[in-house]
Amino acid sequence: MKVAVLANLKQNAPTWPGMSPDQWDDLDSWSTIQAITAALESAGHSVVFLEGDTTLYNNIQAVKPDICFNLTEGHFGDSREAQVPAILEMLQIPYTGSRVLTLALALDKPMTKRVLTYHDLPTPAFQVFERPDEPLDPSLKFPLFAKPSREGTGMGVSAESIVHTEAQLRTQINKIFERYNQPALVEHYIEGREITVGMVGNLTAPVARRLPEDEDAPRIVRGLHFFPPLEVDFNAYPTEEAGLYTNRIKVELVDTFYYLCPAPLTPEQIEDLNWLAAATFRVMGCRDVSRVDFRLDANDNNKPYILEINPLPGLNPGYSDLCIEATAGGWTYEQLINRILDEAIERYELRNRHNSAAKTPRFSGR
Ligand SMILES: Nc1ncnc2c1ncn2[C@@H]1O[C@H](COP(=O)(O)OP(=O)(O)O)[C@@H](O)[C@H]1O
Ligand SMILES: [Mg+2]
Repeated sequence: MKVAVLANLKQNAPTWPGMSPDQWDDLDSWSTIQAITAALESAGHSVVFLEGDTTLYNNIQAVKPDICFNLTEGHFGDSREAQVPAILEMLQIPYTGSRVLTLALALDKPMTKRVLTYHDLPTPAFQVFERPDEPLDPSLKFPLFAKPSREGTGMGVSAESIVHTEAQLRTQINKIFERYNQPALVEHYIEGREITVGMVGNLTAPVARRLPEDEDAPRIVRGLHFFPPLEVDFNAYPTEEAGLYTNRIKVELVDTFYYLCPAPLTPEQIEDLNWLAAATFRVMGCRDVSRVDFRLDANDNNKPYILEINPLPGLNPGYSDLCIEATAGGWTYEQLINRILDEAIERYELRNRHNSAAKTPRFSGR
């Protein structure tokens, strides 16, 4: 098939005087695009790369791909990860991964937490601050953790994110307003181990539509393949990182990433985490691939808390969490990339359409 790989490259991103140095830390590098292209070509596809910016609307109609491999994070706006998928839907062009609503929702951490809370899935208690003088909810107890509501790649996360006093809290909130120009998410600080669980696949009907705690099917994860969980090895990092997966670790120190994969967990712990990851995938409406970040509360018997879901996880073969996990699970990079594509091809029923003369549009996917 003709596959268009869509991404926002760091080298193509807009710049302006005074922009924050971490502004484009979550965008892709050319080496990731080359690796994905090679992986797709190894499966017999023909591949074109297109930048996912304002040029895309015309370029994609000229290229006319059968399907897109979507990695676009977007540049501007509070639903930026959903913008390219929205254009693709308008043009009825199939694409890999989660759809518009899910991508917009997952980029917004407070919205994600509201959905998780509604389904009784464990996520740290929280409050969103939109103004510097909003009173702190008395049910929230220090230490707290303050981060931007809609960033990724550890942006805005450092040792100072852990706050012990009201004064520290106000300082952090103000920094987030100034630097990221968005609401601050303040959560209970979860002291403990950090685990991330990656998966590919799709929940298959009818379980895909069931609530997580369905009486008849309490722990169904059918259709999803889980990779071995990855633990960030905080012992290997300077104490300045404070046991957090900071922007510094994710960007500056990426070449010396210390992790344990598979994470040393019991089979019961892994089953719990996989099920929580599947439940998060389900209630958020994810497709094809995702990674869920957890902290295990050292002060409460390692109780797992969901921090966020990443429906567009990094796919750099050298250092992205999901790729490390797939390798630990015995998969090649080619298998990982082509499984993501094949999941989407299946959802859109493209194989039949591709082979038959009458290409009836069945855009809706599933
Ligand atoms: N409530 C919390 N308690 C403890 N650490 C946290 C909490 N929230 C975030 N962190 C730390 O900050 C990192 C980044 O937070 P996360 O919500 O996963 O955002 P990102 O999108 O930047 O990955 C986490 O991997 C974790 O180390
Ligand atoms: Mg994260």
